[in-house]
Amino acid sequence: MIGIFDSGVGGMTVAHAIEQACPGQKFIYFGDLARAPYGSKSPETIRRYARNNIEFLLARGAKLIIIACNSAASVAAAEMRQEFDLPIFDVIGPAVARVGRIAAGLGGYWRTGVIGTRATIKSNIYAREIQALNPAVTVYSQACPLLVSLVEEGWLNHRETKMILRRYLRPLRIKQVNALVLGCTHYPLLKPLIQARIGKRVKIIDSSVEVASVLQRYLARQPAGTYGESGRDSEFYVSDITTAARATARRIFGRPIDLIKV
Ligand code: DGL
Repeated sequence: MIGIFDSGVGGMTVAHAIEQACPGQKFIYFGDLARAPYGSKSPETIRRYARNNIEFLLARGAKLIIIACNSAASVAAAEMRQEFDLPIFDVIGPAVARVGRIAAGLGGYWRTGVIGTRATIKSNIYAREIQALNPAVTVYSQACPLLVSLVEEGWLNHRETKMILRRYLRPLRIKQVNALVLGCTHYPLLKPLIQARIGKRVKIIDSSVEVASVLQRYLARQPAGTYGESGRDSEFYVSDITTAARATARRIFGRPIDLIKV
């Protein structure tokens, strides 16, 4: 089985993208709702949570891990790869690679924006990795701490959400970025609003879609059934259940999701 974890249900954008890219591939999802949000926590705390989450998924039979949470990926992925002896994918590398590919195709000077939680932006990982890949790309990063709560409230088309987005995106608009990385699990749900406010010509890079396509290519190279388990369906575990979480999960998958509290 494939194990996917996030701080809550936002990472279901990644699980959903995987379902689309790899039809038939089953997974175990863990959303650490009881300890969310991660985006405002320290790197040490996030690393401890990431370790617990991987141990939980391993105990349930995961043979490959996807860190769906950008905040966890930004501060914990490298350590987790050292600590655990199994393939660990995360949402950051594939999005960085996509920026690199687009920039290489265009040549010359290029500007990209990155938006995420405070933890992700403070880690500076997107900027570091993008520039390591292509020093000609200038990266402008912007923390957008209010967006997660707005998405969890279901305020996907509210006037207040549009105003806050305009405010967060203004510095990136002024810099005339050519692309914008959605460096947080929740932001794909705001994609139409973000696109309208950052500008039609800006290429939006969705880290959930990028990691799903990297995983799809990886699975295609493995013997059939390597990460499957016949007779077992995808399972969704959470460390707490709220009405808002149920609604967000349903919104992401377009169907009710059976959340199991552990
Ligand atoms: N999953 C987190 C991320 O992608 C957002 C929610 C949180 O802060 O826990 O960064």
